Amino acid sequence: MYKIAVIPGDGVGPEVVREGIKILEKVASLFEFNYQLITYGFGGDYYLKHKEVLPSSALSELREMDVIYLGAVGHSLIKPGILEKELLLKIRFELDQYINLRPVKLYPFVWTPIKDKGPEDIDFVVVRENTECLYTGLGGFLKKGTLEEVAIQEAVYTRKGTERCVKYAFEFTKKRNKKKRLTLCDKANVLNYGHDLWQRVFYKVGEEYPEIEKDHAYVDATCMWMVKNPEWFDVIVTCNMFGDIITDLGAMIQGGMGIAAGGNINPEGVSMFEPIHGSAPKYAGKNQINPLAAILSLALMVANLGEEEAALAIEEGVCKALGTGRIKDMAAGKMGLTTSEVGDLVKEFITKGE
Ligand code: IPM
Ligand code: MN
Repeated sequence: MYKIAVIPGDGVGPEVVREGIKILEKVASLFEFNYQLITYGFGGDYYLKHKEVLPSSALSELREMDVIYLGAVGHSLIKPGILEKELLLKIRFELDQYINLRPVKLYPFVWTPIKDKGPEDIDFVVVRENTECLYTGLGGFLKKGTLEEVAIQEAVYTRKGTERCVKYAFEFTKKRNKKKRLTLCDKANVLNYGHDLWQRVFYKVGEEYPEIEKDHAYVDATCMWMVKNPEWFDVIVTCNMFGDIITDLGAMIQGGMGIAAGGNINPEGVSMFEPIHGSAPKYAGKNQINPLAAILSLALMVANLGEEEAALAIEEGVCKALGTGRIKDMAAGKMGLTTSEVGDLVKEFITKGE
């Protein structure tokens, strides 16, 4: 019996999560596993009502789960930063979900803005470090509000944090067994302490993986290559900040935020899966948002539970749904189908192959 925490969150979160759960029901019955959903109402409305983002008891409850499924956070009445820091980043940090795994995969029949590139060219995974870098919130102000103001924002990199991330990336590249190429994306030519550490750790850990090609690209060049020659990449490992940025670019080349999935992973603990899009308040409650990102995140979640076959069946279902040509566009409001129709279509195509 898997214990699954569900945090539908804000805006379109509940709608996309609803479609994900629909798919979960189907694969659970086909592949014969049981689960229990524990739903939490955290998000903007909860905060407005209770003046608290995440009660401390919630974190200890979340630690007891097998996985967490998150919709989206972000509320138009709440100053940007509060929910992000106190909910999303809080869970990532407190549960030590030190990997943010973000596949960049162009599925058949999905449009990419990159001319002359197809599904065979766009299929790589970004392993984003998820607990350090500029995200620790360290820093401070000096003479705030004056003309002499100083603002310091510190990037923190530890050997332990870098090493476990790089190791995960090498292992992942090995298991993935495709091009067997791991690209370190950094800015070591300028970040002469932090990314010097990353480089040393990367090549040191890499000695244990003679079969994996060690590749390197500065972050600016990575952006260039992602557009110019995306087929080069197999797995990219990078720091938290750069991972955040390049995965938005990645989402665009795979067809948009509507189909970009991700997982916050603690390989030794509780992981959390979420579409990488935000709460898109503009589309909330309209049944127009694309649920595919949430459904593909659910596939990652199901795989994390050990139900690999079910995960593959979900991905197959998504491919077949796309293959019908009925989902006209990945963008909200342009799909030609409603959110629930897309969910139903995928559900219909999920089968248990022999
Ligand atoms: C993401 C988001 C978050 C991040 C924000 C909402 C804090 O952009 O998951 O990529 O920067 O990690
Ligand atoms: Mn982001």
